[in-house]
Amino acid sequence: MSYSGVINKYLSYLPFSEGVKPVTLLEGNTPLIEADNLRKDIKSPAKIFLKFEGMNPTGSFKDRGMTVAITKAVQDRAEAVICASTGNTSASAAAYAAKAGLRAFVILPKGKIAIGKLAQALIYGAKVIEIDGNFDDALRIVREIGEKTKVVIVNSINPFRIEGQKTASFEIIEVLGKIPTHHSLPVGNAGNITAYWKGYREWSEKNRTSLPKMLGFQAEGAAPIVHGKVVEHPETVATAIRIGNPASWKQAVQALDESKGQINIVTDAEILSAQRLIASTEGIFCEPASASSVAGLKQLIGRNYFTDKDVVVCTLTGNGLKDPDTASRDVPPPLAAKPILSEVLKLIQS
Ligand code: F0G
Repeated sequence: MSYSGVINKYLSYLPFSEGVKPVTLLEGNTPLIEADNLRKDIKSPAKIFLKFEGMNPTGSFKDRGMTVAITKAVQDRAEAVICASTGNTSASAAAYAAKAGLRAFVILPKGKIAIGKLAQALIYGAKVIEIDGNFDDALRIVREIGEKTKVVIVNSINPFRIEGQKTASFEIIEVLGKIPTHHSLPVGNAGNITAYWKGYREWSEKNRTSLPKMLGFQAEGAAPIVHGKVVEHPETVATAIRIGNPASWKQAVQALDESKGQINIVTDAEILSAQRLIASTEGIFCEPASASSVAGLKQLIGRNYFTDKDVVVCTLTGNGLKDPDTASRDVPPPLAAKPILSEVLKLIQS
């Protein structure tokens, strides 16, 4: 049977019954790529696999959760959905709302959304409202609107989002043929680490398999979970995870504790360097936030954390094409030449 999206593929793990009509853009089924060049470069004893979620229809992992949240909203006869976002959730919500014929409202921190993500929300037809505040302010407002109106919130505080996102764990296990020993990912609002852990746990309960250790990474200027306190003014080049008061904080800590994992800080410089490394060694262009998972891995390798028996999966959460500005900031500019063969050859040979 041809692939028809995560709801049909994993129906028995999701809160729908047979006959459900998914609102789908055929999300999921993303590549799990073995990263041998990267492994050599960073001298990793462990095998490394990259789960490239940037290959989803709107270019991020959010689509897995959004197909479930929007399908549920349609079942409940909702007319409109709303979310706060650092960019990717809004792009995904806007796309799935368009497909479902629902209105979408998105509240964004002004000036802090990568240009591709903003363009997505606009072209999919969402009503985009920018506030002079950060993501945490936007989410506070969205929660209040959710209490006062019938508009359905499609942030990851909506449990159906988490249900959809957990399907990435199932895909990884199916492709590897086993559970990885470690799973590394960026942490912002902490929904995704919660979702992966739920997926691994459900699989292990059903199939009596082991569980991975969860490794989370926050940007230095936006690391509330690492510090154990709210960050009032979060700052990082990785705008996707520029969050000071994550909604799924407790669930993330639970995932880290239960899995005997850890959560650490990566600097903006480490994030950008990892982003370039992933691109130049593996040919994969992910966005800055996504590269935190590999930046964190490098730190742990330096501390001799892994052995050669380990298999680590890093989730690359979003596509680098969403944020071309950041990507082109620190790379050498193109060389210029007159349209003459000798001129071009001179540059090629220099
Ligand atoms: N990576 C990317 C590319 C993201 O967009 C996000 C979150 C994360 C990682 C962190 O995932 O929040 O589940 O811990 N983006 C949200 C948004 C906040 O609005 O697009 P998380």
